[in-house]
Amino acid sequence: PLVTTQQMLKDAQKHKYAVGAFNVENMEMVMAVIEAAEELKSPVILQTTPSTVSYAGLELYLANVSALANKATIPVALHLDHGNSFELCMKALRVGYTSIMIDGSHESFEDNIEISKRVADACRPSAISVEAELGKVGGKEDDLDGGDENPYTNPTEAVEFVKRTNVSSLAVGIGTAHGVYKGEPKLAIDVLKDIKKVVSIPLVLHGTSGVADEVVKECIQNGICKVNYATDLRIAFTKGVKEVLEDKPETIDPKKYNTIGKEYVKEYVKEKMHVCDSVNKA
Ligand code: 13P
Ligand code: ZN
Ligand code: NA
Repeated sequence: PLVTTQQMLKDAQKHKYAVGAFNVENMEMVMAVIEAAEELKSPVILQTTPSTVSYAGLELYLANVSALANKATIPVALHLDHGNSFELCMKALRVGYTSIMIDGSHESFEDNIEISKRVADACRPSAISVEAELGKVGGKEDDLDGGDENPYTNPTEAVEFVKRTNVSSLAVGIGTAHGVYKGEPKLAIDVLKDIKKVVSIPLVLHGTSGVADEVVKECIQNGICKVNYATDLRIAFTKGVKEVLEDKPETIDPKKYNTIGKEYVKEYVKEKMHVCDSVNKA
C-alpha cells in the first residue's frame, strides 16, 4: 500500500537499517523500483524532484506509483524530493504525495527555519512527513545548485533547527554531492556522529550515487535512515536503452528498449536494498 515515510523511518531508525529512496523519471522506473521492493520484501520510497515534476506532473507520478503500491504487499511512499517552494510542497500535499521535502538549505539559517516550519505546520494535519535540509549537499540535483561553501551541518544548529521547525527527518551535509563524483568522495563520519548524538529524528543521506557501499553502511550505523539514489538509476536506465538501440537500430517499439532499461534499474535498486539492509523488513 501507499503509506507515509513516518513509520517506515521510525522502524528503520529503531532497527538500524535504512530505507532506500529512489528517484524515478518515468513509468518504467516506477515499475522497476516497486518490483524490486516487492521481490525483496523491502519498504521503499520513490521520489521526484521539481524538474521531474515539471516533466510529467505530480498527478501522473502519483497515479503510476499508487496503481502499483495498491497491489503491493510492501509499504511504498511517494516523496517530493528537494521541494523548492512552499507552493510546490502544498501542491504535492493536495495531490496525495505521502512525504515532502522542503529544501531551504540555500537560504540563511533563519529563513530555512521559517520555510521549513511553515511546510511542517501545513502538513501536520494530514500526518504527512516533512524532510528538511541543514548544511549543504554539493553538486547539482537537476537545476538545483548545491554551492561550495562549508557543506557540513553544524550539530548545535541542527538541534535548534529541529526544535523550532518540528520537521520529521533531517537531510545532513557530511560531504556528499549530487551527481557523479570527480574523485573519491570523503565523508565526514565524525560530523554525522556528532549530529546523531544530539538529534533524535531520522537523518537522511543525499548524493549517494557514487558513494562506496561500505561507506553507506557506516553512515547507516551512525544514524542515516533514508538513503537517496538518483543519478545511478538514470545511468542504468539509459545504458539499457542505448544497448538495445545500438545493437538493433531498426527497433521501433519503445517496449523493447524500455524493458532493458527497466531491468537494469531493477538490478541496481535490488543491490542497494541489500546495502541499506532493508531486505525482508516489510
Ligand atoms: P545522487 O544523484 O548523487 O544519487 O543524489 C540523489 C539525491 O540526493 C536525490 O535527492
Ligand atoms: Zn538530494
Ligand atoms: Na552522488
